[in-house]
Amino acid sequence: MTGSERQHNEAKTTGSRLYPVYSATTVSIQGENRVEDSFRKEWPSPVSDADGLRLGSVDFVITEKCSLKCKDCCNLMQFYSSPRNADLEQFQTAIRNLAAAIGGIDKLNVVGGEVFMNKRWADFVLALLDTFPTGDVVVLSNATILPVDADLEKIANPRVSFQLSDYSKQGVRQRMEEFTERLERHGFGYKVIHAEGWQDCAHMRDYGRPEAVNKQVFANCCVAGFYSFQDGRLYPCPFASNAAALGAIPEHLDEAVDCTAAVDPEEVRALLELNPPAACSWCPGRPADYKTNSRFSVVTPAVQTRTPLPYPKMR
Ligand SMILES: C[S@@+](CC[C@H](N)C(=O)[O-])C[C@H]1O[C@@H](n2cnc3c(N)ncnc32)[C@H](O)[C@@H]1O
Ligand code: SF4
Ligand code: SF4
Repeated sequence: MTGSERQHNEAKTTGSRLYPVYSATTVSIQGENRVEDSFRKEWPSPVSDADGLRLGSVDFVITEKCSLKCKDCCNLMQFYSSPRNADLEQFQTAIRNLAAAIGGIDKLNVVGGEVFMNKRWADFVLALLDTFPTGDVVVLSNATILPVDADLEKIANPRVSFQLSDYSKQGVRQRMEEFTERLERHGFGYKVIHAEGWQDCAHMRDYGRPEAVNKQVFANCCVAGFYSFQDGRLYPCPFASNAAALGAIPEHLDEAVDCTAAVDPEEVRALLELNPPAACSWCPGRPADYKTNSRFSVVTPAVQTRTPLPYPKMR
């Protein structure tokens, strides 16, 4: 397949696995007609089995650094003025504590920022593979930095695959061709997502909505049920974890399970039962039908800002 053919594919997958896609592109895969409650049923929701509580999907944030600075990034990278990498030792301890409290995770996303900004990214992947004996590990990347062969060899495992965003239509310089060739050479499955209109969701303020409306925002949100693990804590979603790390929402809105010490499984269950999480009241929401919903805007993906965007600090 030539490079241009590849660019025009909606989503290319090699290897034996096809993963559900993340955020905006979930919309194109799932279709835009999803009704509120069907989404969670389609997505692997948390269930209890003999081994304990299983979580459908967790984003493990291994860095706040990014090689791009998209002004509308849903993970709020554009606001970090002093982005940090996660600490590997703290991460290892915290994921062990989490693993001891739950039955497992079906999909473990390794995410930033840009994961390859963290030079030890492969050790984070290995830690997840070692600590969680089941579940698919998906490394998300913007394909601007090539992972070195030694790191790819280190994490070679049929449980690991890659999800790459293609921003070439938006004029972003990437290394997609080299990247996918390298993955193929190492036998990894991968998926390329061609960015289309993004959600205008990178805003943090008190929307002052009644609780019933916040509940609706949560019910409509395409990342409800995509838990996020950042700074040793498990949060309801990536907005909640990054807004907390930025200090962009008041502290009393942080609802997270601290995994830096032993975790009580009931605390995890309580987090999963939040309806809505308090952070939703400071979030515009991420409705799956944003492209047709007149109350929401669609923005051009991957528009860059040179400098970090300002925001009011809440703590
Ligand atoms: C936050 S990025 C992190 C991984 C990597 N840096 C990348 O860009 O692919 C994860 C996914 O979110 C998507 N995304 C970022 N901002 C978005 C937005 N405002 N609306 C919808 N999707 C968004 C990206 O295109 C990517 O598929
Ligand atoms: S969407 Fe852009 S700013 Fe956000 S993590 Fe991906 S590349 Fe970085
Ligand atoms: S804070 Fe609520 S509405 Fe916003 S992204 Fe998270 S779950 Fe969705």
